[in-house]
Amino acid sequence: MIMSGRARLAGVVGWPVGHSLSPRLHGFWLDRHGIDGAYLPLAVEPEKFESALRGLVDLGFRGVNLTIPHKQAALALCNEVAPLAVRIGAVNTLVFEDGRIQGSNTDAFGFLENLRHGAPDWDPAAGPALILGAGGAARGIAVALLDAGAPELRLANRTAARAADLARELGVTAVPWEARGAALEDIGLLVNTTSLGMTDQPPLDLDLDRLPTAAVVTDIVYAPLETDLLAGARARGNPAVDGLGMLLHQARPGFEAWFGAAPEVTAELRAFVLAG
Ligand code: ATR
Repeated sequence: MIMSGRARLAGVVGWPVGHSLSPRLHGFWLDRHGIDGAYLPLAVEPEKFESALRGLVDLGFRGVNLTIPHKQAALALCNEVAPLAVRIGAVNTLVFEDGRIQGSNTDAFGFLENLRHGAPDWDPAAGPALILGAGGAARGIAVALLDAGAPELRLANRTAARAADLARELGVTAVPWEARGAALEDIGLLVNTTSLGMTDQPPLDLDLDRLPTAAVVTDIVYAPLETDLLAGARARGNPAVDGLGMLLHQARPGFEAWFGAAPEVTAELRAFVLAG
């Protein structure tokens, strides 16, 4: 395998890319499905992104995932972009076909699938959702929740103008960062999309007193896997879903498109990826 000369090739393009868990994740699935293929970490600096992408097409790659800082820049290089990716304003999955580049965004899918698996009783229509943060991740998650039928979205961000801009664009509500604790009242879902609570980052300072016990709490931070937010939610009886699943589920559509098999997210995969 791989040495056959017929291996299907894909990878993740980023700058830097060394921290990416995707090669390990896709490597597990390639092995599991016995596929003659490889998924490589591809470090490409922004100035060389376009020429590198054309080179990958010429080399016969099936496609790639994109990570920081290429997710927005790639939009302009796609021949076709899925409507959801246009609304999110970023692509994370490219499929190369007959020299053409098709772009899509699977982060929204990954986010929703993770919640559906981790909190099977969660109903997006059951109540308002509060999103902490207003960056690229918040944008994808907000669009996902709107499409899933969330009746109300509240955005709270340290930089108020960023939350206001995104809220205006999506037709949802911005709440002051200082009022994030009060905004927990009557919600059905709380999502942290900020880097707060990540290893070596400041803690997320949030008083959960007003959080309804039925509300689902999720964090896109997965290092540590059990963030203080998730531990605090679980301790008071809230269902809590960690952020690793979003990464694992967002990878499924790309793998299927490039390698032709539908992969599964299992406990074994989680353990393997975490051991990396
Ligand atoms: P991503 O695309 O992954 O969402 P990003 O655009 O850098 O990354 O967004 C990071 C988010 O974490 C932002 O909402 C950011 O708030 P600002 O818009 O005010 O920068 C938030 N964030 C990062 N550090 C923070 C801190 N110390 N306190 C509060 N919010 C923070």
